[in-house]
Order: sequence, then C-alpha cells, then structure tokens
Amino acid sequence: MTIKKICCIGAGYVGGPTCSVIALKCPEIIVTVVDKCKERIAQWNSDRLPIYEPGLDDVVEKCRGKNLFFSTDIERAIEEADLIFISVNTPTKTFGHGNGKAADLKYVESAARMIAQIATSNKIVVEKSTVPVRAAESIMNILNANHKPGVEYQILSNPEFLAEGTAINDLINADRVLIGGANTPGGQSAIEELCQVYEHWIPRKNILTTNTWSSELSKLAANAFLAQKISSINALSAICEATGADISEVAVAVGMDKRIGKEFLQASVGFGGSCFKKDILNLVYISECLNLPAVAAYWQQVIDMNEYQKTRFSAGVIESLFNTVTDKKITILGFAFKKNTGDTRESPAIHVAKTLLDEGAILHIYDPKVEESQIIEDLSMDHVPDLKHKVKIYPDAYSATKNTHAIVLCTEWDEFMQLDYERIYSEMTKPAYIFDGRKILQHDRLQKIGFIVQTIGKKLTRSAISRSWGSQSQI
Ligand code: NAD
Ligand code: UDX
Repeated sequence: MTIKKICCIGAGYVGGPTCSVIALKCPEIIVTVVDKCKERIAQWNSDRLPIYEPGLDDVVEKCRGKNLFFSTDIERAIEEADLIFISVNTPTKTFGHGNGKAADLKYVESAARMIAQIATSNKIVVEKSTVPVRAAESIMNILNANHKPGVEYQILSNPEFLAEGTAINDLINADRVLIGGANTPGGQSAIEELCQVYEHWIPRKNILTTNTWSSELSKLAANAFLAQKISSINALSAICEATGADISEVAVAVGMDKRIGKEFLQASVGFGGSCFKKDILNLVYISECLNLPAVAAYWQQVIDMNEYQKTRFSAGVIESLFNTVTDKKITILGFAFKKNTGDTRESPAIHVAKTLLDEGAILHIYDPKVEESQIIEDLSMDHVPDLKHKVKIYPDAYSATKNTHAIVLCTEWDEFMQLDYERIYSEMTKPAYIFDGRKILQHDRLQKIGFIVQTIGKKLTRSAISRSWGSQSQI
C-alpha cells in the first residue's frame, strides 16, 4: 500500500504544524487534521490560526483547501485514511493513581477507541503524541479487542521533536525523524510506508528506525537531556552569583567542548513549556513503577532545580525591592514560555507573577503575542479575588513600564532588546530596577542610564547591587 490519505487526530501545536508541513512536502497525499474542538477547527479554517508560529501562515495558505483540510468530521477522516496520526494531548494526571506524575492517556485511549469503532479497512496507526514507554501495547490491545472483522492494524511510534517558535524550520530541517515499529513483516512494511512519506524531504540517512519501545523512550530521554542541560547551567548560575564567575563565560567555555555542545546552556529564570516538566515527571513515574528509585530521584532533581531557579529569581526581585512589594507597581515584560510563541503553558512568568501578587504587588504585563484573557486565566488564584485590579495588561512595553518601580523581564522577545530604555527610565518611579531573567539586555548601558540592574549568573559590579539572588546580604 502507498499512503494516499492521512488523518491526524488532534489539531494542536503538534498536529497542526506537522501535518501542514507534510501536506506542503507531499502534494499527492490528502491530509486531514481533525479535532473534537469546533472552535479550534474554525480557527484553523480562518485567517487567524489558533497558534502563533513563524512561517505557519504561509504553509497553511499554500495547502489549505488543496491537499490540507481541517475538519470536525472525525469519523469520515478516520474511515478514509490509510495512516492515522494520534496527536492528542497527554497531560500529567491530576487525580488518582500516578497523580502529579504519570501521563494521562485518556485522550490517546479515546482516539484509539474511535479508530476501532469506525475503521472498516486496514490502518497504520501512528503515535505522534509523547507517551510512556510501552503505550503502543495498550493502543494495540484496545484496537485488537474492538476491531471490525477483517480489519488489521499496525502501530508505529513516531515522536515529534519540534520546538515551539521554530516548529516549521524544525519540521522542514529535522535533525532526525524517528520511527519505531514491531519487528514483524507487517511492522517493517508499515515503517517503510511512513519512511516514504518523510523521504519526500528528509534524507533517508536522517530517518532512524528502531523498535517501538526504543522510539517511545527516546522521546522522553531527549527532553530529559535537554532540560537537564538547562538545570545544570542554572545550578551553576547560583554559584556564579556568589563567587564573581560569569555564567555566560562559563557556558561558552563549557559548550565549546564538542562532547557537551553549546546549545541549551542559556541560564534563565527557568525552563517552561508544555513538555519538559510533564515528560520528565512521566520518566520519574516510569522509573518508580519499575522499582528504580535512584533513577527516579536523578531525573526528579532536574525539575526540582528548575523550581528552585524560579523561586530564587522571584525571591531576589522581592528582596532587592527592600523586601516589600506591597502596592508597588511592577512590569512583567513577556509572558509566553519563550519567544516567538503565544503559548504560556508552564511559563516561568506565571510563577514570578503569582509570587509577586501573593506579596501584594500590582502588575503591569505586556507580551507581544499572549492574549489578555489567557494571562488572566493563568493568574487566577482563589485567594486573590480582585485580580482585575491587581493585574493590568498593556498593548506595548512603554505604556506597561510607565510609573512602575521595576521591570521583570521573563521572555526573551527580540523587541525587548530594541526598546528606548532612556525613555522608559525617564517615565519610571525611582530608583528604577530591571531584573533580566533572560540575560538579553545590555546591562552596562542600562546601569549608565541609571537603572539598578540584576540578572542571572552574574554579580554586577556596582556596589549598590553587588549581591546574590536570594541571599540576605544588604545593599
Ligand atoms: P494540544 O493540547 O495543543 O493539542 C491537542 C489537541 O487534541 C487538542 O486540540 C484537543 O482538542 C485534541 N483532542 C484531544 N482528544 C481528542 C480526541 N479524542 N479526538 C479529537 N481531538 C482530540 O497539544 P500539543 O501541544 O499539540 O501536544 C500533543 C502531543 O504532542 C502531546 O503528547 C505532547 O507531549 C507532544 N509534543 C508536544 C510538543 C509541543 O511543542 N507542544 C512537541 C513535541 C511533542
Ligand atoms: C521542547 C524540545 O526542545 C522539543 O524538542 C520537544 O519536541 C518539545 O519540548 P519547547 O518546549 O517547545 O521544545 O521549547 P524549547 O526551545 O526546548 O524551550 C523550553 C524552555 O527552556 C523554554 O522556556 C526556554 O526559554 C527554556 N530554555 C531553553 C532555557 O532556559 N535555556 C536554554 O538554553 C534553552
């Protein structure tokens, strides 16, 4: 069989961009992305796509209505497809067994049940969602227990490695595509079918085929390694602040060793995003279930260090502002978990903002891409009922910083590097502070303007600010 029609269940941050690129690169394949959420599908069919991702609009515009379709008719798309991607969300469980750690597979399961109920011809079912190792076995059990007579399934694991903000480039120029499948003739020929889809634009040498479990585990492992690098550099940033070493210099020196590599060594307020924490918790849970407590503790520490970094940064802000922020106006610049996305899932800005709100601060928030309603939803806390009076959202950085005591930079948007900081300084309450949680600003220049500047992993030289985050030493 050659793949002629693809269905993708789940029109989110992964399903939408991934299938748009497949449609772009495989004009002879009909790709239909389905979702149970009507509003999301309506947005995919409109001029305002549900996610902001550089380059995505162009790809969708080129293919939509030709060989790329977004639909709520899940039944029809499943029935017609040769190959079905399951690209639904796999959040951390918030109840019952594995609460707070295990991946909640209810959406994956419901997708598998739908496929079994609808399909009347053979299908290749592909796990695109990030799942625990051996999840394919559960999917196969569901499909086999409910299949229609004569219908056969092959299950493949094909995890997605795109990062938000660079998704289109990551998909088009993928370092590798990973496909795991059963070591049976049926499994191997299904792998070959999917290889042929990717071979439209990915060189064969970059398409890696493995057994199903290796593929599932490699996805969790890759995210764990990436997050581990960030937690390692963030741990060292605390040592830098206490000693006079500069974390940027350390990162360059360490990263020039090819065995370590320079990527993912940018010290920060902490990593965010929907994947790292969730996937490492999943790995921790799997390790615990396999009775490997030392392995679980090892990976848990990557998350603990990230929590420590967010807390240390927020505490440093409060301490610098004379240990009280009650009724002080503080600007949060950037609310997304990284630049070039409107996604706020697990954004460190939420942690910082909630800590400051808890201490009675009034927040002025500006982010180029995050909607006001999203920010208010993210900051909702039962014990802060008058949130609308405590949090104001602004349309630009200048109005957001006016008459505030401090700026806390939480997202590394390029535009924050280009701002007129003389103008901003002149309109702020004095002394005016900047806390650069992303290390993107020119600290010497800001100090010359008059700002009191603090950043991560560097003890700035002015005596007034020669102190460490979170320490109790006095100015
Ligand atoms: P998302 O929440 O943006 O999208 C998931 C979509 O699936 C939602 O629109 C939801 O309505 C839909 N859905 C859920 N159950 C459904 C069902 N039964 N039928 C039809 N639609 C259904 O999630 P996402 O960020 O795209 O992530 C999807 C998966 O990919 C997760 O497992 C995630 O870990 C993994 N992943 C995410 C990223 C990323 O950058 N976001 C990167 C790599 C892998
Ligand atoms: C991540 C993985 O990179 C991707 O391969 C996987 O498919 C999904 O999870 P994503 O979460 O979208 O992608 O973004 P990523 O670029 O990895 O950044 C995650 C977080 O780490 C962001 O908050 C980012 O600001 C932070 N980060 C990243 C750092 O603090 N320092 C760095 O050096 C790199």
